Amino acid sequence: MGDSKGVQLSDPQLFDGQFEKLVLELTEQDMTDPVLTDALNRLREVLRYNAVGGKRNRGLSVIGSLRELVPPNKLSPEEVERALVVGWCIELLQAFFLVADDIMDASLTRRGQPCWYKKDGIGLDGINDAFLLEGSIYRLLRRHCRGQPYYIYLLELFTETSFQTELGQALDLITAPPHKVDLNRFTMERYKAIVKYKTAFYSFYLPVAAAMYMAGIDSEVEHNNAKHILLEMGEFFQIQDDYLDCYGDPAVTGKIGTDIQDNKCSWLVVTALGIMTADQRAELQMCYGKTDAESVERVKALYDTLEMPVRYHQYEEESYLRLQSLILRHAQNLPHAVFLSFAKKIYKRKK
Ligand code: IPE
Ligand code: MN
Ligand code: MN
Repeated sequence: MGDSKGVQLSDPQLFDGQFEKLVLELTEQDMTDPVLTDALNRLREVLRYNAVGGKRNRGLSVIGSLRELVPPNKLSPEEVERALVVGWCIELLQAFFLVADDIMDASLTRRGQPCWYKKDGIGLDGINDAFLLEGSIYRLLRRHCRGQPYYIYLLELFTETSFQTELGQALDLITAPPHKVDLNRFTMERYKAIVKYKTAFYSFYLPVAAAMYMAGIDSEVEHNNAKHILLEMGEFFQIQDDYLDCYGDPAVTGKIGTDIQDNKCSWLVVTALGIMTADQRAELQMCYGKTDAESVERVKALYDTLEMPVRYHQYEEESYLRLQSLILRHAQNLPHAVFLSFAKKIYKRKK
């Protein structure tokens, strides 16, 4: 494949090149009733503001994984295009969750711009915009994959993964009630449950599982092997996200952290609780979950005293080694490159 001059485009270039075409399908070709014009204009604006501008790791890993699973001479241009569309469906799922997540977490910025709900005239109408992003997934899947033998697998995968993520978000929110700081709630066991469900399924298992189904791999054993490795990667990824919420540079991450103010069961607070003195615990009880700058600074000072950055970097090294051995033990018939290329993208990341 290439353009008219025969130049080979990279997958990221092909992926980006698909986006405006999909926007056109969703807002002009699929729906043609003239009374919908205003709503479809809104959808176009929502898609352009919220579905692009991220790292697009999830979306790109569908085509990336498919290329590891199917030999190049067996991969038709049509199938490549479908993998790009399914990749965009994952980016839309992500946009759907993030628009809602930013409202619930009272966040200010995302991907270096104001959160969608913070824009003039949007506010809680953004809830419906999140639904529009979700609905767009199934219109694209239907349009592009309806005739494929794996269509039903993809539908079940997207609906099941959405439900798992919603359960994870429920756990996350229940464990972080505003103005009710109860440090006993923040256990490592609860932490692992939250991140497995709210992040790991949709960010790691979903893109690889989608590529596996597209490659004709539907055996439960194979999927469970992949899931084992990918959920472990997902846990590490969310621990990084928690670390960056406090220690990342907003100019690089594109978002201003809110975990301390939001009383979140973050890896930092769970790990810090395990090593602090009774006096430090009393201090944390006083300042966690509060929005004033002074309280937030006191929590951060406590994290610094406990050397949380050093502990995080130790954890990162251990986690990387554990993952390598997990890949050796569980990848079985699946090419290790599927997992290794994913791991390479996330370890030591700064955004
Ligand atoms: C949200 O986790 C996970 C989902 C969007 C499902 P976070 O609340 O930690 O995500 P950020 O830090 O706002 O991106
Ligand atoms: Mn959030
Ligand atoms: Mn976060």
